[in-house]
Amino acid sequence: MKISIVGTGYVGLITGLSLALLGHQVICVDSDQNKISKINNGYSPFYEPGMDKLLKKEVAKKFLQATNNLERSILESSVTIIAVGTPTIKNKIDLSYIKVAARQIGEALAKSKKYHVVAVKSTVLPGVTERLVKPILEKYSKKKVGNNFGICMNPEFLREGCAIEDALHPDRIVIGQIDEKSGKEFAKIYKKVSAPKIFTNLWTAEMTKYSANALLATLISFSNEIARIAEQTGKVDIVDVWQGVHLDRRLSPYYGNKRIKPGILNYIFSGCGYGGSCFPKDIQALATFAKELGNPAPLLNSVININKTQPHRLVLLLKKALGENLKQKKIAVLGLAFKPNTDDVRQSPAFPIISQLISQGAKAIVHDPMAYQKTIPEQLNNPSVILAKSTEEAIKNADAVILVTAWKEYLKLSPHFFKKSMKLPIVIDGRRVYDKASFLQAGILYKGVGL
Ligand SMILES: NC(=O)c1ccc[n+]([C@@H]2O[C@H](COP(=O)([O-])OP(=O)(O)OC[C@H]3O[C@@H](n4cnc5c(N)ncnc54)[C@H](O)[C@@H]3O)[C@@H](O)[C@H]2O)c1
Repeated sequence: MKISIVGTGYVGLITGLSLALLGHQVICVDSDQNKISKINNGYSPFYEPGMDKLLKKEVAKKFLQATNNLERSILESSVTIIAVGTPTIKNKIDLSYIKVAARQIGEALAKSKKYHVVAVKSTVLPGVTERLVKPILEKYSKKKVGNNFGICMNPEFLREGCAIEDALHPDRIVIGQIDEKSGKEFAKIYKKVSAPKIFTNLWTAEMTKYSANALLATLISFSNEIARIAEQTGKVDIVDVWQGVHLDRRLSPYYGNKRIKPGILNYIFSGCGYGGSCFPKDIQALATFAKELGNPAPLLNSVININKTQPHRLVLLLKKALGENLKQKKIAVLGLAFKPNTDDVRQSPAFPIISQLISQGAKAIVHDPMAYQKTIPEQLNNPSVILAKSTEEAIKNADAVILVTAWKEYLKLSPHFFKKSMKLPIVIDGRRVYDKASFLQAGILYKGVGL
């Protein structure tokens, strides 16, 4: 099939690549000429493991091409996926990109003579596809949904860092359809994918995405609240607590004689809080939506509040170890990406940590293996922030280290490595990945979330 994708960011390009790998002809549309040139030369504008190699292959085979010519892409394809951004502004979802994309697609559909399906893949609140996207498409195409064109809502559940695998082998495919014909036509793009398909209405598909993200974010904030209680006791170690909780067979079931460790357990663990381009904005948008509906959503608001204050806990732990006065202290911050295997720094907990450090007079020596290879995030544009090229450079003569992102290369660092080049051997483990006993034994002042 010929498929056009409007918005070639993270989701648009990964979706495009996976559909090309499934044998479709994909046209990725974006307004950013820079991205288009990179993609057409076989390079991904962002880091994702395995991406460049596959992209190069599909571009060379002409299964995937990028362009800024939206109209031609719509007219040449039979399915269009909207994957533009849906950020939050003032705690509310910003639908301006969706509106523009829907208008442009509508204008192109006005010139089309064949049946076409438009599917919203961007994360949008319940009702947006039916109440906003549909009327815009109808207005600018001067056609009615039904025989002329169809509408679907197909939420995306991929995880950055393993996004290609997730897109090629999804756990489920949710297809919200305005009518049966739309769903049937759209589902053809996933013909070769064996995942269970849920056909439902547009509103339910939209709500499924928010519910999935809200559940995971709630588990993270729950785990961080428990860690705070543990920290206050001065005796409880949260890592052992979670081990004890995880071994409940309802969480780690037996498969034969073996215990399975389901991925959900990664969310029942304490750390610096959730970040990234989805959880913070989606949970906030859902809470605001709930309030507008007359339901104050107290649980979601607590999830948000716990998460907003969690990065500061790392600075509190640092002060417990180093003392209240951070002036002129050199603090190495390991990790900027919101999680390993991505260069995405959107809403990373590293930023509130760095800004607290520098506002209190410290120097932040920041390292990340990927996050500032191409562009330096503007939050780091401060004379008190130094970007280190290597972990060695970051921790040399540092008064303390705060580990923010659990990159594989940081997990390998030994207590000896820290001790030999730091000024003071203080390690604040924001992800609880290091072996406490060996760090303490080596004479490191080791503190971590929930300890
Ligand atoms: N990033 C994720 O992990 C993830 C996962 C699931 C769902 N989502 C959702 O998917 C959507 C897209 O997220 P993203 O991270 O890919 O966003 P992004 O900001 O990385 O990409 C959006 C792209 O759309 C382009 N664009 C905007 N308006 C356009 C237009 N009218 N015509 C052509 N191009 C246009 C922008 O230039 C940009 O390249 C969001 O709603 C997000 O919540 C994201």
